[in-house]
Amino acid sequence: MQSIDLLLTNIGQLLTMEADGPRRGSDMKTLPMIEGAALGIKDGKVIFVGKREEAVHLNAARTIDCKGKLVTPGLVDPHTHLVFGGSREHELALKQQGIPYLEILKRGGGILSTVEATKKASEEELYKKAAFHLDRMLSYGITTIEAKSGYGLEKETELKQLRVVKRLSQNHTMDIVSTFLGAHAIPRSYQHCSDDFLEEMLALLDKISEEELAEFVDIFTETGVFTVGQSRNYLQKAKDKGFDLKIHADEIDPLGSTELAVELEAVSADHLVGASDEGIRKLANSSTIAVLLPGTTFYLGKSTARARKMIESGAAVSLATDFNPGSSPTENLQFIMTLAALHLKMTPEEIWNAVTINAAYAINRGESAGQLAVGRNADVVIWDALNYMYLPYHYGVNHMNTVLKKGEIVAKRGEVCENISLS
Ligand code: NIG
Ligand code: FE
Repeated sequence: MQSIDLLLTNIGQLLTMEADGPRRGSDMKTLPMIEGAALGIKDGKVIFVGKREEAVHLNAARTIDCKGKLVTPGLVDPHTHLVFGGSREHELALKQQGIPYLEILKRGGGILSTVEATKKASEEELYKKAAFHLDRMLSYGITTIEAKSGYGLEKETELKQLRVVKRLSQNHTMDIVSTFLGAHAIPRSYQHCSDDFLEEMLALLDKISEEELAEFVDIFTETGVFTVGQSRNYLQKAKDKGFDLKIHADEIDPLGSTELAVELEAVSADHLVGASDEGIRKLANSSTIAVLLPGTTFYLGKSTARARKMIESGAAVSLATDFNPGSSPTENLQFIMTLAALHLKMTPEEIWNAVTINAAYAINRGESAGQLAVGRNADVVIWDALNYMYLPYHYGVNHMNTVLKKGEIVAKRGEVCENISLS
């Protein structure tokens, strides 16, 4: 008999998601699954994956009877703007009047109003607020996220946001990958000299490296924000300093930043609503992962990214919440799965690949998150569902039954356990 810490048994469907790399194109239909399964955990790692009857040699200190439920890897959310001050509910009325997102920004609202609120907030306030959102994400079955800065647009506040992310990644149960998005908008005082502003943001990179505050650098390439030329110059310099790249690419207007992401070998290109045919073709022939954000287009009332064309062309597609106070105020990645089914016409199999392994590869965590294979972290969700098709179908509610992070129970039925350290 082999001694283990925990055995999950009587699993109806176990999605192991095992793969050697991100799933691309038609391979996104592949869904590695074991029915009537068991999962063994020891020292926070997966030690056994297989049929329930093959687990008889395991002597578990504790057993959970999953009662035929669906069990999957913890979800991965590869695009969030986790740390910010305030909120923007007053913009809902502006949206109802038909004032476009970029017009609100132009008037000094939108991202720029969150910048003001984030400047005013103390590091401690931002920490507590972000921890609250992280707890909620965990309660929705998310165990790994990416978090961007970008509500400072000047040295002190950008560093404040990044330090909050670093402290949270040390103290909170969630695994967090940090991205520097200093180039998120042009501050009012730089409206006519945005090149100077980008130089100021680039000047922060040495400090960010030194304090290990971010792995990725991202930029908002958009009409009225940064051009493709500015973005190329900025990201190339960040790459030369050793950062991996992401781009808010073709989110609203089609500018050709999908092509730029491929040219610069960005790890991911995000949004892609306006991606051209050529951009999609290039993406499909590259290692850059498409991170689609159907919650944002839903919330802004925009048309959606062409997910079907991307998948049929052979691209690796992932999904994220884009959690932020303006264009997508939600931590609910399960709802994004429903939007992916209804708006992006993705199949349930494609959706599960998009929120597990492909999401992990989109933030350079393909080797540690997004799949349940022997030797990997036991980041596991037991769902109140009997099959994987149920989640995108039954929408707007939380199907989480139990979340395990590195083998420990950290959330149960919509509640985060009290003993999680939030200090
Ligand atoms: O991904 N487009 C830029 N950034 C965010 C929105 C941020 C905000 O409105 O506060 C996005 O949509
Ligand atoms: Fe975003």
